[in-house]
Amino acid sequence: MSDKILYSYTGIFDTPDEIIHAAEKTSEYGFKKYDVHTPYPLHGMNKAMKLPPSKLGYVALVVGLSGALAALLLMFWMSAVDYPIIIGGKPFFSFPAYVPVMFEVTVLSASIATVLTMLFIFFKLPNNAHPLHDTDYMKKVSSNKYGISIQAEDEKFNEEQVKIFLTGLGAKEITAVYYDNDEINHKHKILEPKFIGFLLFTALLTSGVSYFVLNKLLYMPPFDWMMEQDKLNPQATSTVFADGFGMREPVEGTISRGHLPYLFKGQPEAAEINLANPLPFTKPVLEMGQKKFDTFCSPCHGYHGEGDSRLRGQFPNPPSLHSEKIRNWKDGRIFHVITDGQNVIPSYSSQMTTEERWAVVNYIRVLQRALNAKESDLK
Ligand code: HEC
Repeated sequence: MSDKILYSYTGIFDTPDEIIHAAEKTSEYGFKKYDVHTPYPLHGMNKAMKLPPSKLGYVALVVGLSGALAALLLMFWMSAVDYPIIIGGKPFFSFPAYVPVMFEVTVLSASIATVLTMLFIFFKLPNNAHPLHDTDYMKKVSSNKYGISIQAEDEKFNEEQVKIFLTGLGAKEITAVYYDNDEINHKHKILEPKFIGFLLFTALLTSGVSYFVLNKLLYMPPFDWMMEQDKLNPQATSTVFADGFGMREPVEGTISRGHLPYLFKGQPEAAEINLANPLPFTKPVLEMGQKKFDTFCSPCHGYHGEGDSRLRGQFPNPPSLHSEKIRNWKDGRIFHVITDGQNVIPSYSSQMTTEERWAVVNYIRVLQRALNAKESDLK
């Protein structure tokens, strides 16, 4: 057809060095509307083509900052205005807590914006046609050749001179590329009903099949799921047992491993007679006793057991541990108070092991002897 409109002249080169050289010469010549096609990115090509820095960075900056601001406003609105709740004693507007979310939203919006800008503004989607598509030139430069395409739109373009110019650069297969009729008429192949129909069909088919497989097929025999087994739910009513409960109580008298119940609950006298201190007065034992006493007992009894509580006003002051009475108590009786409690003082058996409790008893003995030293102790 003679009414074909010229798009560009293309030339093919064999090596990266040649194409870089050709790009340099083309930009030096003053051509603006030309492009270079290579099978892979070439270092130094931007410089050779004298390309200005991409404008995509501005899009990323603006959209990214807007994303950060939107996230900040959203979180501020929710936690300081619309639904203020104190969490962990932090202020309603707690900026450090917002930083991770703002960062994520910045990255997310900037990256989505760059991709969409590239597709819809730079590449003009839904237009997916280009005169270079389906040409021999494109086949070669996407395989193992390097090519340059100088557009007819360029001010310096002159058909005869461009041919001479490309030959002078050493280009092979210098070819003219013309617009397709579709491109001239702005028909977008991507919007053809056939293609849209194909997309819709594929979407419906894949979602339908996934739904069927994941929600129906996998629940048909012989597929078997643990949650589908015959079993008694502990929280549900049961017809199997007379009491109607699904959950079974442990057999009466069952105790959990490593937790022997305390035999002298509420019987301090029996404890005093029957319990013997298994621990010696060694350094490690006393150190452990001191550590536990300082931690659990000293807030009320004072570091030396004199009853000088640090919790004045919050809890009744305890009596001194140096009284005649306590000094005459056998170890088992003190152990009993720690284990079972006495009046207002609760049991400490969940805070300390049996051994630690005995060690505390030994430490109390040391405190008592220190405060009531006999003459013989001083020799
Ligand atoms: C929260 C404060 C508090 C703590 C902690 C505390 N006690 Fe006491 N303790 C008391 C009070 C109050 C009494 C007096 C209880 C009563 O009315 O019989 C007491 C009584 C005692 C008695 C009996 C004294 C007597 O004269 O009858 C002993 C022995 C004792 N505590 C040991 C300990 C040991 C050992 C610890 C650490 C494991 C401990 N207490 C931790 C407040 C405390």
